[in-house]
Amino acid sequence: MNKFTFQNSTKIIFGEGQIAEISSNIPKDARILVTYGGGSIKSNGVYDQVCEALSDHTWDEFGGIEPNPQFATLMEAVKLVQTEGFDYLLAVGGGSVVDGTKFIAAAAEYKGSDPWDILAADAKVESAVPMGCVLTLPATGSESNMGAVVSKGSEKLSFGSPLVRPQFAVLDPAVTLTLPARQVANGVVDAFVHTMEQYLTYPVNAKVQDRFSEGLLQTLIEEGPKAMIEPEDLEVRANIMWAATMALNGLIGAGVPQDWTTHMIGHELTALHKIDHARTLSIVLPAVMRHQREAKKDKLLQYGVRVFGVECGTEEECLDIIIGRTVAFFRAMGVPTSLSEAGLSRDDIEPIVEQLRTHGMLKLGEHGAIGPDEAREILELAL
Ligand code: NZQ
Ligand code: ZN
Repeated sequence: MNKFTFQNSTKIIFGEGQIAEISSNIPKDARILVTYGGGSIKSNGVYDQVCEALSDHTWDEFGGIEPNPQFATLMEAVKLVQTEGFDYLLAVGGGSVVDGTKFIAAAAEYKGSDPWDILAADAKVESAVPMGCVLTLPATGSESNMGAVVSKGSEKLSFGSPLVRPQFAVLDPAVTLTLPARQVANGVVDAFVHTMEQYLTYPVNAKVQDRFSEGLLQTLIEEGPKAMIEPEDLEVRANIMWAATMALNGLIGAGVPQDWTTHMIGHELTALHKIDHARTLSIVLPAVMRHQREAKKDKLLQYGVRVFGVECGTEEECLDIIIGRTVAFFRAMGVPTSLSEAGLSRDDIEPIVEQLRTHGMLKLGEHGAIGPDEAREILELAL
């Protein structure tokens, strides 16, 4: 196992009816800006629960944060925070609202000339407005991690800082019952791929991390399809919600090599072609598995035996079956597993490789061995 420091300070407040608890988790004298997305919270009762919980607080609201939150929209909120003096942010929504609010928190206190620079590779956040969140879509893990992804035109970039980690996250699985099936599927697939990108590298004898990861993968494989078939089952939703948080809260990634190739290529697919985040991942991951079949062989076989119970003849036969089972899981979730299913062709590959180059994504993978040529080969395997 590699050396690591692990600290996750987000207080998790889990279960039905827990939105009421935000009242005791935000200082009474705070001036709160509640941020949200396109309005789902106003039609599903979440907004009313937040209003009730904040009845003794001073607060205002900022809505309209879009999926793949846009820099220009977020900057409107930054101005509001600065001019009105809000000193606490409460994000109510999915990963986009939580990520967008993390950016608002950092940009409102940014001393440089252009807040877009917060997303530069070498940027460091020096201070941020404190924030909490009420999560309505289990997927990204943003509710208890320190990362955020922000878009501007065809740029989709990320930043991370412990200063934007939410102080608390309310996870009420009941609020996920109003999610459209597409978003339920996206969430399960995103959490699955987060787990894979911290697991599917090479063995470092990290038994706890491996077995936690395998437990999360099994949970998502078991419960994901159930959520599609029995959308009213609250226990299924609860298990998915907790799995998605655990998949990217730092725990399973501590002390192990990681490979975020699928996400980095996926972000370019979203930026250029507006494909939902999770759907880019279900397209790219199987191709990464095929391309890295030899380099990742030990972990692929471990995954096959422990997660799917695959038993077969030769290693090569096993690997085919294991990659096939992964694709079958994505298909069961109704997400695409090839570029062509998303309407893309060979002609679309080079611009994606160019974007990776522009963004300095020249040494992806656990060994830094995936450069532009390998990314092109992966995209060709994804056709
Ligand atoms: O905007 P509203 O009206 O709220 O509707 C949203 C949105 O249209 C809707 N929704 C959310 N909760 C709902 C609901 N509809 C009905 N009932 C509910 N309870 O769902 C739609 C999608 O929401 P969004 O927040 O965009 O989805 P998700 O949570 O998948 O977030 C995706 C974003 O997170 C980033 C992605 O790149 C993408 O920008 N990621 C953030 C990460 C992180 N911070 O660690 C890691 C991830 O890998 C990912 O990159
Ligand atoms: Zn993701």
